[in-house]
Amino acid sequence: MTEVFETIASLRLRLETAGTVAFVPTMGALHDGHLALVRRAEGLADTVVVSIFVNPLQFGAGEDLERYPRDLDADLAVLPDEVIVFAPPVDELYPDGESETLISSGTVGSTFEGASRPGHFDGMLTVVAKLLNIVRPDVVVFGQKDAQQVFLVKRMVRDLNIPVVVDVVETVRNADGLALSSRNRFLGDDERVAALALSRALAAAAASSASRHEALLASHEVLNDESTVGVDYIELVDPATFEPVGDRYSGPVTAIVAARVGTTRLIDNRQFDLA
Ligand code: PAF
Repeated sequence: MTEVFETIASLRLRLETAGTVAFVPTMGALHDGHLALVRRAEGLADTVVVSIFVNPLQFGAGEDLERYPRDLDADLAVLPDEVIVFAPPVDELYPDGESETLISSGTVGSTFEGASRPGHFDGMLTVVAKLLNIVRPDVVVFGQKDAQQVFLVKRMVRDLNIPVVVDVVETVRNADGLALSSRNRFLGDDERVAALALSRALAAAAASSASRHEALLASHEVLNDESTVGVDYIELVDPATFEPVGDRYSGPVTAIVAARVGTTRLIDNRQFDLA
């Protein structure tokens, strides 16, 4: 039976005898992508802690906080028995209402996902900092699927000298290329087919990697063919700074894309080298 803790005090008490800890923060609605993080975590420490918490602080007005899927029993059913679950109610993490103290995600935090979702990354970093303080893990495991989140968490850990190793696991995809996401369940059949344009656009960019210009041209061609996909952004960023690369840049890039398919907003990314 998976052990589930709802309070910070009871979790901390349990972790006193847990040995080394690898931590996987999630918002639940667990899929194979999360399970890949858990499997990685199992190889990294004596004990794996998974948090399941839909963090209101990282949802803006009019976003999908209310409809975000919540089914603790379904989540527990897919987790290995040995994992420790931390599933606090909102008032355990925010007893005084929304936190007045926030971690700033800086300039990068207001670009791309941050431009479309103002405040999202400050809210995300704030809860990740809180969870790291609560769990005090040796290593924390994130998925590359949320590339900007990974960049910002790594930078926060460095900037604030948080004593944890950040481990990143490759994006898990369906056989047809669609990156796994808790939001995929909102896609109708036709939308699911249309959503494949995101991973195809990234593949096209990687295949035309002579320059930023050519790579973006190739990906726009793919996206323009799919009239039901509303592109929010597609860009090539330098993985070291998360800033867009120039046209003469050569070296590693992360191609990032966000698009609305029906009422569902999806993101994806792919890493490759520009010649
Ligand atoms: O990636 C997520 O699911 C969330 O942003 C996280 C890291 C669990 C913080 O709420």
